[in-house]
Amino acid sequence: APAQAGAAALAQAQQAVEQAALALKAGALVGLPTETVYGLAADADQAQAVGRIFDAKGRPKDHPLIVHLAGATAAQWQAGVAHYARALPDFALKLMQAFWPGPLTLILPRRPEVGAASAGGQDSIGLRCPAHPVAQALLQACQAIGVQGLAAPSANRFGRVSPTTAEHVRDEFDAQLSDAELLILDGGPCPVGIESTIVDCSRGRPVLLRPGMIGIEALEAAIGQPVALRDQAAPKASGTLESHYAPTARVRLMPQAEMQAALDLLGADARHIAIYTRQPVSSASRHLLLRYMPTQAEACAQELFAVLRELDQPGVKLIWVETPPADPAWDGVRDRLQRAAA
Ligand code: TXA
Ligand code: MG
Repeated sequence: APAQAGAAALAQAQQAVEQAALALKAGALVGLPTETVYGLAADADQAQAVGRIFDAKGRPKDHPLIVHLAGATAAQWQAGVAHYARALPDFALKLMQAFWPGPLTLILPRRPEVGAASAGGQDSIGLRCPAHPVAQALLQACQAIGVQGLAAPSANRFGRVSPTTAEHVRDEFDAQLSDAELLILDGGPCPVGIESTIVDCSRGRPVLLRPGMIGIEALEAAIGQPVALRDQAAPKASGTLESHYAPTARVRLMPQAEMQAALDLLGADARHIAIYTRQPVSSASRHLLLRYMPTQAEACAQELFAVLRELDQPGVKLIWVETPPADPAWDGVRDRLQRAAA
């Protein structure tokens, strides 16, 4: 019986995927589970459908979106890359071979005749081949009916915390999109939990635009050359804006000792404060909302956005977070927390 139930669930999931592919082909939006965060997807080659993403998110039209590609085999993502990109530097190909499918986005020179709306008018385009099985199933089904790629930013309102469950996506767009207007595929909680690493490959040498769980050392090892850090004057990109991923409560990052000192000072009066810390703190207050941070960066990334949502509840005005370790493994988590606090 369990095997039969499993087969039935699989058939149902496949049906939802086929239905979502048809909806995308018809210009609708779909909530897309990926290994990083959920995306709000549209056919990347339909300007009007892509426009709906910007409207639903409240995102400025000049902020480029990432286009997701099918990648059951390397030949398949190579076809997708050839459709959208005008040139493919050798180091970019090496990065794709090393990390696709996976949580890595590459910015490449764009073929002028495709994806202008998805690219927010830039002459480049962000491409990513996600590893999540549901994302891949959808991308395969899309490709079978002539949809080459899915433009999908994180499925949150502009500037807010990214969603890592189907329920988060529903919550984000309750006011903007009805259930009929937004089909959400439920792929479970996202295993990586923070957005993909982004490397700009359109300027002759690799530049890290957004840190993620694929770290700079791994990138450099794969291509055998250094990866530069983004210079602050680079064109604006929403995930790289200083203030982003922000809950409603104010987030502050501080070392554990500083947090403890502040709690000691407030004593039993500490109220409206939520705490996310790695090292234990003590307080005389019975009103604190306290969550412990995992000791491993991967585990922390996986739960980070869900924890920020959970701590950002009515009555909480401040979220105090212990500054993550300086170790490079924490680069992605530290980046998101710094932006949430900015
Ligand atoms: O993990 C992810 O990347 C998720 C999932 C859904 O795939 N997507 C995501 O999308 O984080 P979004 O739109 O929230 O962030 C995309 C980032 C933005 O900072 C955007 O500006 C940058 O990618 N980007 C996309 N295309 C670009 C381009 N042509 N040039 C520079 N930056 C680009
Ligand atoms: Mg985003």
